[in-house]
Amino acid sequence: MTVFPLVLLFGICLSSASAGPALKATARKPLTQTFFPPTSFQTFDAGVDHPLSRRDGSLADAASAFVETQLKVDSKTVKFKSGYSSDIAQYAYIKQQHNNITFANSVANVAFKDGKVVSFGNSFSKPSSFASSTPTVSVDAAISAAEKALDGTHNKIPTTLEYLVNADNTATLIHVVQVQNQAKGTWYEAFVDAHSGKFISAIDLVANAAYRVLPIFKQDLTEGFEFLVNPQNLASSPLGWHNDGNTATNDTSGNNALAYLDQDQTATTPQSAPGLIFNYTQDPTVSPSEQVATACSPLVQNSQGIDNANFGTPPDGQSGQMNMYLWDITDPERDGGLENDIVTHEMTHGITNRMTGGGTGRCLQIVESQGLGEGWSDTMADWMEQVGPTIVDFTLGSYVDGGVPIRSRPYSTNSTTNPYTYSTLLEVGEVHDIGEIWANMLHNVLAALVDARGFSKTARTDPSGSEGNVIFLHLFIDALALQPCQPDFLQARDAIIQADQNRYAGANKCVLWKAFASRGLGFKAFDYTDDFSLPDGC
Ligand SMILES: *[C@@H]1O[C@H](CO)[C@@H](O)[C@H](O)[C@H]1NC(C)=O
Ligand SMILES: *[C@@H]1O[C@H](CO)[C@@H](O)[C@H](O)[C@H]1NC(C)=O
Ligand SMILES: *[C@@H]1O[C@H](CO)[C@@H](O)[C@H](O)[C@H]1NC(C)=O
Ligand SMILES: *[C@@H]1O[C@H](CO)[C@@H](O)[C@H](O)[C@H]1NC(C)=O
Ligand SMILES: [Zn+2]
Repeated sequence: MTVFPLVLLFGICLSSASAGPALKATARKPLTQTFFPPTSFQTFDAGVDHPLSRRDGSLADAASAFVETQLKVDSKTVKFKSGYSSDIAQYAYIKQQHNNITFANSVANVAFKDGKVVSFGNSFSKPSSFASSTPTVSVDAAISAAEKALDGTHNKIPTTLEYLVNADNTATLIHVVQVQNQAKGTWYEAFVDAHSGKFISAIDLVANAAYRVLPIFKQDLTEGFEFLVNPQNLASSPLGWHNDGNTATNDTSGNNALAYLDQDQTATTPQSAPGLIFNYTQDPTVSPSEQVATACSPLVQNSQGIDNANFGTPPDGQSGQMNMYLWDITDPERDGGLENDIVTHEMTHGITNRMTGGGTGRCLQIVESQGLGEGWSDTMADWMEQVGPTIVDFTLGSYVDGGVPIRSRPYSTNSTTNPYTYSTLLEVGEVHDIGEIWANMLHNVLAALVDARGFSKTARTDPSGSEGNVIFLHLFIDALALQPCQPDFLQARDAIIQADQNRYAGANKCVLWKAFASRGLGFKAFDYTDDFSLPDGC
């Protein structure tokens, strides 16, 4: 039998996804939190003009001109960082700069549809003073400081020189250094003062989290394996999964993914039988690690952890890394790589961390944004496991946990089963707990869309339908590109509603508002106070 999670690893994980948080919280030394200036986010329904509206201009020029006029800054302050066009809109990501040096924590994003601006997010700052833009501390000294502060090793990714605005509104010149520690599973972007040489703070590229384990019903190997023949999508992988354009392989590596075993810290890529047949059998009565000794299983059993999973999301250009661990709650142990909802949860961290803010991997770092990230990850697993027009309650992760719930409640449209609303945020502070509130809202949004527009059984492979679950996933993904860096619940909601305007001319606007309002995130919701009202016209 082939192992289905491998298919997920190859098909999805290895796209441009970057790494993200773990499945459950682990005890780690608290990291100095990087300061992020407040983020504002506006959406404009059908759109507003920008200064170059009547001219032919590039995306970079149009976005820069819009930011300059909105924020009343000159062109030297604005640096176009990246942009792209989807089938529905164009997205531009911009950084603030001073003396040609970009800021690590002051950014903007502008989205366009039909030549008009449909959304604008920004966290630009007006520093009262700037450190000299010529560093007086060497890169080597900064690397040493970062390695010492974070107990890791610089991974040879080139360092960058940037500005960092601080809470006191001064701007510090920094060397940005990536530091990893494989044994501890850590991966940071360290900010080191380029004048004093002191470590300031770091971006955590691997958000770690905790599982309270819940029973799940059908998202794991107890439902039986499938033997899939040629499951690759030839539109996205014309040479299949075992050829990166230069090299053909017969193991679990290729253009999309490199899946490997990590027992005893040796990376082993399972080999196929002739003809690329990965037909390993799985025996649930023996430990996954024992099995590997006798018959290789194409799973990632990371030797550096237990009872968890995580995903590291570096910036665009670097591959993300998913880590699946063995779970020792049951006897024999179970393998997180064999539970699809866990794989999906981790893979989704890559998507959300990469897509929010234009690929820096730095834009889901404040606690509320991290919580949204956990929520999206649970939601994608929820979406993936729904099989029919009745959206059923969803609980995450019970195969590996042996029946001890990971999350506190199932996601449900029933307010008795799950009573969480926007104001529940006042009672929680841990990122997975925050994520539960968001995932439950999105479960209700999915149910409302399916109720209104029907259910497609082929939504996992065919995005062209008009059914509610197809619409849901389009809005989920589109909104990630629209929303600002460090989004909060209100901004994440607004991005979904604007995404519906962009893609469906607002056809689902009231369905969406009603679902959000049913969980306290109504039209006038603000500052963690529930509001159940709808905008005019709904
Ligand atoms: C900034 O970069 C531009 C383009 O590379 C260059 O023309 C300009 O002189 C630079 N300005 C400063 C202050 O270094
Ligand atoms: C893969 O296997 C085929 C035969 O099944 C063989 O011709 C080919 O050389 C192998 N490729 C590598 C990279 O080992
Ligand atoms: C896969 O392995 C099983 C068990 O060894 C065997 O019965 C089956 O014929 C194999 N299928 C293929 C396509 O090789
Ligand atoms: C909601 O859940 C509660 C508790 O499980 C149950 O008693 C009630 O009947 C459910 N309501 C609906 C409308 O299904
Ligand atoms: Zn997570």
